[in-house]
Amino acid sequence: MIRYIDQYKNEIVNKKVILRIDYNVPLQDVKVKDDTRIIESLETINFLLNLNCDIILLTHLGRPKTEEDKKKYTTKILYSYINENKIFNTDVEFLDNFNELVFKGGKIYLFENVRFFEGETKNSLDLAKNFAKLADVFVNDAFGSLHRVHSSVAGISNFLPTFFGFLVKKEIENLTKFTDPKGKFTLILGGAKISDKLGLIKNIKAHKIFIGGAMALTIYKQMGKNIGKSFYEDIDINDLINNPKIILPNKFVTVDDNYQNKEIKEIDQVGNEIIVDVIFDDDQLQDIENSELVFWNGPMGIFEKGFQDGSMLILASLKKAKEKSRAFVSVGGGDTLSFINKNLSKQEIGNYIDFVSTGGGATLEFLEKSTLSAIEYIINNVKV
Ligand code: 3PG
Repeated sequence: MIRYIDQYKNEIVNKKVILRIDYNVPLQDVKVKDDTRIIESLETINFLLNLNCDIILLTHLGRPKTEEDKKKYTTKILYSYINENKIFNTDVEFLDNFNELVFKGGKIYLFENVRFFEGETKNSLDLAKNFAKLADVFVNDAFGSLHRVHSSVAGISNFLPTFFGFLVKKEIENLTKFTDPKGKFTLILGGAKISDKLGLIKNIKAHKIFIGGAMALTIYKQMGKNIGKSFYEDIDINDLINNPKIILPNKFVTVDDNYQNKEIKEIDQVGNEIIVDVIFDDDQLQDIENSELVFWNGPMGIFEKGFQDGSMLILASLKKAKEKSRAFVSVGGGDTLSFINKNLSKQEIGNYIDFVSTGGGATLEFLEKSTLSAIEYIINNVKV
């Protein structure tokens, strides 16, 4: 059973709480570019502050591998952003490591990037124990990380009473609409790699699955089509070729090696060019517009370089699905969110989308399995 914080106030009030959040936010030049994940954690933080808790925030940031990466991915970047923009009602203190923790009467402490510590991604229980020693209770609100069984996400639950926060609750409530669909459900997938999404494509209870981005090119290549110099994956996906649920794009935006001379072609007209965007026809898009549930993950093309016609058509179809079919529309994944934030204002987003998931891989794992690896680990290992 998932135990949420609002049902266990008596066990949390006045306690020191380790709060695992996922502040793995997009960065640009060592600065926070999008703070959605930080803002989405505020409900849980304020709830804990109201219960008079001291909060130690744990998060990872990026995938640091070398000493040099430590400058790029220190959580001091987040600490400065949070304090400069007064994101919380109170100032945050920064903790470099375990030796430094002296409660100074402040209420929120932000720990250095958990991935700087040996064993984090291997779920080292020694590391988890060191984290656990900092507090009395573990609250996990890191929805975006719940597909990772790591020390700060899962391991700590071996040593402390563990509860989940409001973001995890909200995500699960909304995403469950897609794992147990009531009505016609269309899944739209894009992005580069199909290998990450094979389990999802096989197991999701969708009526139709649109596959765009370079994922579609991998399928076309497997069908023996020429895709020029475009990216594809050399993997066996034969069983997808005859899957009647899958809808592939019919038009392709090609460019030369310098990303110039843009043309729109059918697959059999592609020569030695690079395909940078894919376009679904109007009658294909009808399937989206007539759906009662729509989930979108992954752009159709390289929108960062300006090739976004295919993704714009998907966006327009989401709006029509809401208008025509009163669809419940949701999106997830970092690239899809960047595309949406680039093209829609915060006010406009509600005309297109009902729920924006903060997860990438976690959202896809939940859609595939109706649960997440770290949730299962915690339920099986938690010290109550
Ligand atoms: C994410 O952004 O999807 C999560 O923070 C997980 O990050 P990771 O893929 O580096 O584990």
